[in-house]
Amino acid sequence: MNIGIIGAGNIGGTLARRLSQLNHNVTIANSREPETLKELATEINVKTGTVYDVARNNDIVVITIPQKNILNLPKDLFDGVKDDMIIIDTCNYYPLLRDGVIDELEQDLTNSEWVQTKIQRPVVKAFNSIAFTSLANASRPKGDNNRIALPVSGDREKDKEVVSDLLNQLGFDSFDVGELKNSWKYEPGTPTYCMDFNLETLKRKLNELGMVRTPEIRTNINSRRTAQEKQILEYFAQQKP
Ligand SMILES: NC(=O)c1ccc[n+]([C@@H]2O[C@H](COP(=O)([O-])OP(=O)(O)OC[C@H]3O[C@@H](n4cnc5c(N)ncnc54)[C@H](OP(=O)(O)O)[C@@H]3O)[C@@H](O)[C@H]2O)c1
Repeated sequence: MNIGIIGAGNIGGTLARRLSQLNHNVTIANSREPETLKELATEINVKTGTVYDVARNNDIVVITIPQKNILNLPKDLFDGVKDDMIIIDTCNYYPLLRDGVIDELEQDLTNSEWVQTKIQRPVVKAFNSIAFTSLANASRPKGDNNRIALPVSGDREKDKEVVSDLLNQLGFDSFDVGELKNSWKYEPGTPTYCMDFNLETLKRKLNELGMVRTPEIRTNINSRRTAQEKQILEYFAQQKP
């Protein structure tokens, strides 16, 4: 398939490499000139382009940039693209660590519903709840009991089927969590986030959360996310000379 990736960092770079190895035709873009990605692109055998090239000439587009930077994408980015193009959103909201407080995300909207609203196109939320290291190294064959399973959600069934198939090609199981509004269940701070659970455990943990994000559940998730953000900030502080 023709797959474009907006964002060529940890997740974008890893996905590009792995998808290229599976013989997909991959193009990557970052926030700068395509030239800045030439070295990486040559190494992993993908093409480079502008965000417009990526958004307009592919069957699947993955958006994998810091959540707050969604606001920097050109407003006309997806104008005129075919309706059945699939957009995968991997973004996570980290207010303390990176994104600052985004008021709409402190209300009921999920991270990906916010992205969908901003880009005015339907998205599938996937690949947001696995660390790039596992994405790079933890593939397993179908049927292996330790195969990692990843949640997907979105409002178009066909899109989710295609994304689940892509996950399978990459060596992961998938679990359909339903509509995009349910994607709060695997955002940062939730029990399954980046835990590398297999399908059985993932299903059980997601089902245990229920379908309604009560104020109590929201508070618990947010405080776990804040604790994780603080841990990461401390880690970075220790790395400084
Ligand atoms: N790291 C993980 O393990 C992980 C796991 C799951 C989900 N996620 C989520 O996935 C997203 C990407 O994470 P990451 O770790 O890959 O980030 P990262 O390593 O910081 O890379 C971010 C990439 O996004 C590009 N970018 C930023 N703003 C852009 C814009 N307006 N237009 C085009 N490209 C832009 C950057 O390009 P420039 O260099 O030009 O700025 C860079 O290539 C985040 O939302 C993150 O929370 C991360």
